[in-house]
Amino acid sequence: MLNSLPQPVVELADLHKSYGPVEVLKGITLTARQGDVVALIGSSGSGKSTLLRCINMLEVPESGTVSVAGEEIALVGSPPHRRPADERQIRRIRSELGMVFQSFNLWSHMTIIENVMEAPLRVQKRDKAEVREEALAMLAKVGIRDKADSYPAQLSGGQQQRAAIARALCINPKVMLFDEPTSALDPELEVEVLRVIKLLADEGRTMILVTHDMQFAKTVASKVVFLHQGKIEEEGTVAEVFGNTKSLRLKQFLIAAGHG
Ligand SMILES: Nc1ncnc2c1ncn2[C@@H]1O[C@H](COP(=O)(O)OP(=O)(O)OP(=O)(O)O)[C@@H](O)[C@H]1O
Ligand SMILES: [Mg+2]
Repeated sequence: MLNSLPQPVVELADLHKSYGPVEVLKGITLTARQGDVVALIGSSGSGKSTLLRCINMLEVPESGTVSVAGEEIALVGSPPHRRPADERQIRRIRSELGMVFQSFNLWSHMTIIENVMEAPLRVQKRDKAEVREEALAMLAKVGIRDKADSYPAQLSGGQQQRAAIARALCINPKVMLFDEPTSALDPELEVEVLRVIKLLADEGRTMILVTHDMQFAKTVASKVVFLHQGKIEEEGTVAEVFGNTKSLRLKQFLIAAGHG
């Protein structure tokens, strides 16, 4: 039979991750296909950040597999010494992942455009003039073209976060991973960042997004995944998860989040 579904970009199969005796991920199986915007929701401590960190191997799962663009990340050894088999593979796969975290992690001694150009020049070894043009286009896209020659400390939090998004985009990633990109921002600065993420979703970029903002998840997600105590308790479309909630825990979570 012909399979008309878009290609998987990130595939997680039965991931388990513990910190010491505490199992934080208890068998996570999840696929993000080309063009999917997956919103990961769940209470504090449910394992959302850990899940994202396993995708880029900032955390190594004790068991289960992670594949990016059809390539499985090779791991060797037994827990607690399980580790990537090939550091070159990790570097290559990381260069296909655009990561944006809560804190912006810009280099403070570099201007905004130098920050954006750093990975394409140093890691991808691309042509400087070409990268500069692309970096300026990315800064324009996120609405801070005029800040190209400023230093991070001269920007608002929202502008810094948009610079971090431009930087992640400039490596031309196959998927963007966002971990609560607006949680450190004042509400009025949040809006601009959310607008940029919505723009990327509308362009058809594949994204996995951890968010506490249910309204935003509703606007942007093609698939919503509710994590509860390290397991996927419920998943589906926005209409299914918010409109026809099945799990009692999700119902309680949505009420607590003001969306019951
Ligand atoms: N490096 C670590 N060492 C030990 N325990 C950790 C570590 N990182 C996370 N944990 C624990 O793992 C659990 C899941 O954490 P995680 O950060 O993935 O949750 P989260 O869903 O992202 O929460 P939040 O919404 O607060 O960001 C928590 O109980 C946390 O205390
Ligand atoms: Mg988190």
